[in-house]
Amino acid sequence: MCGIIGYTGKLEVQNVLINGLSRLEYRGYDSAGIAYFRENQPHISLRKTAGKVKDLRAVCDKVNPSTCGIGHTRWATHGGVSTANAHPHRVGKVALIHNGIIENYAAITNKFNLADELQSETDTEVGAALLNHFYEETHDPKETIRKAVAEIKGSFAFGILFEDHPGEIYAVRNVSPMVASFDPKIGAFIASDVTAFIEHTNRYFVVPEYTIASLSPEGIALEDLEGHPVTPEIMTVDWDLTAAEKDGYPHFMIKEIHEQPAAITRTITPRIKNDLPDFSGDQVPDDFFKGAENVTIVACGTAMYAGMVGAEFIQNHLRMPVTVSIASEFRYSQPVIDKNSIVIVVSQSGETIDTLEALKLAKQYTDRTLSIVNVKESSIARESHYVVYTHAGPEIAVASTKAYTVQVATMYLLGFKLGLVNGRLTEDEAKERVQALKAIPGHIEEVLQYENQVKELTSRMVNAQDAFYIGRGLDYRVAMEGALKLKEISYIHAEAYAAGELKHGTISLIEEGVPVIAIANQQKVYEKVISNIREVKARDAFVILISKDKEINDPTVCNVHLSIPDVPDDLTVFETAVICQLIGYYTSVGKGLDPDQPRNLAKSVTVE
Ligand code: AGP
Repeated sequence: MCGIIGYTGKLEVQNVLINGLSRLEYRGYDSAGIAYFRENQPHISLRKTAGKVKDLRAVCDKVNPSTCGIGHTRWATHGGVSTANAHPHRVGKVALIHNGIIENYAAITNKFNLADELQSETDTEVGAALLNHFYEETHDPKETIRKAVAEIKGSFAFGILFEDHPGEIYAVRNVSPMVASFDPKIGAFIASDVTAFIEHTNRYFVVPEYTIASLSPEGIALEDLEGHPVTPEIMTVDWDLTAAEKDGYPHFMIKEIHEQPAAITRTITPRIKNDLPDFSGDQVPDDFFKGAENVTIVACGTAMYAGMVGAEFIQNHLRMPVTVSIASEFRYSQPVIDKNSIVIVVSQSGETIDTLEALKLAKQYTDRTLSIVNVKESSIARESHYVVYTHAGPEIAVASTKAYTVQVATMYLLGFKLGLVNGRLTEDEAKERVQALKAIPGHIEEVLQYENQVKELTSRMVNAQDAFYIGRGLDYRVAMEGALKLKEISYIHAEAYAAGELKHGTISLIEEGVPVIAIANQQKVYEKVISNIREVKARDAFVILISKDKEINDPTVCNVHLSIPDVPDDLTVFETAVICQLIGYYTSVGKGLDPDQPRNLAKSVTVE
């Protein structure tokens, strides 16, 4: 998962590239670099360094009049974090930036005898050496690209400079995302996503796979590998630059936590007509739902945990068999699905490679695939038979927050529709649930009032080695998301546990001061959970209880009680999730960490 950007036109390219890279850093931030043409310089110039984009800025020329170049911010896959491994990679007359993985880099190295050309440990440099090898033969950028991509196995979004073609950038992709834009007053862009150039233009198109894009200050020409011209579909971004900036918040994550009420409202409103779920605006026909006999939900990480919430509703209220699968497991399984199966894939970025490949497998069995995606025209959105876009706006923080709650809201609406179409929910039941869902944004606003209290209590978390999130039923599913939020940005080992299961072993890890976030919102198992909580409290755990009780003054139950607004049990997931997000965020900040860019992670996992 890396970020790439390229620009050629009237502006000073160094600023365009570095500002764009700073907006792409959420895709990877362990090293960065730029390559560009300089007037009267025979060779392509290169500046790169281990570290973040701010470190790259420090090694760049103070004044740089260049107007054509490429830039890259890296999440290391092949080769460690070092300046040598940073992109762009220059071999001979070629400079290359790359997002993806060249799987057969070793075979290519041997086949074309490239070893002596290589200075780094990366697969990308092999790509640069291969391109240079063919360029020396053909002296033609497009012919070079055709020959090179014919040899490469794997995923790539390439941005390429050829030394003899100043002012020009060439690009080609397979699986890894790439968008492009041209404005006659500014010039031409390529990037991993629109956030990189949103300050210059809000019009863009997705570069089709295996289409060669030739960028110049005069325009962008597209042709397929046979040389036929390709005309892209131009789209307009439906959010502005401020959505991709912090707007005065200290971090993107806390901004995005606060954006949730509006994000949920924007997402559900177009799918509700006369208080009933309606997906006609998404071109999802009733036949998609009609006669479905089972549902499979496939995703990764937080998106999967959102899927788990939807699954609970479908199973418990619609009495329909439902399976939730980790995408990286599903794609190598023999799924028991057929033409009467609905497969829902969930992905904020729409680029998670495991989820994309799982979707392709599912399509071999059923025509009822639907993706819930936050990024328009992303790979998963384009691959699924149907897509329901969430309208959370760009989610920049690596830790997913608003994407999770809008995914859950969308899952619920899809579940209501599935129930209605198949006679498992009456219209009155559906209307009642829709009305309760419409009130959730307001309840989240109430929960956000807890921010300072949560900030205070996380002072008891910052030195923890371990933390546990416990609950039963739906609360156990939310606990999984809560645990992930804490561990991925505070580096505290956090584990979600079915509250009733603790005493079968794990309770041995409970000792004085171990934080336990206990969730007790499912009324039918409330007493059971409370007795499970007493079991950990009796062993001096530090218990934070999240429940609908107005107040609890029982020291044998919890140290801190956070009382959430009284909504139907299955909608408490939204309020609980927001509290867990705040716990994760303030614990990370309390430890002096950067919650937006946690170590080892990147926002979009486009490698397997
Ligand atoms: C969540 O906080 C993580 N950043 C990660 O688990 C993420 O949810 C997962 O990688 C899936 O990403 P996607 O929604 O873009 O497919």
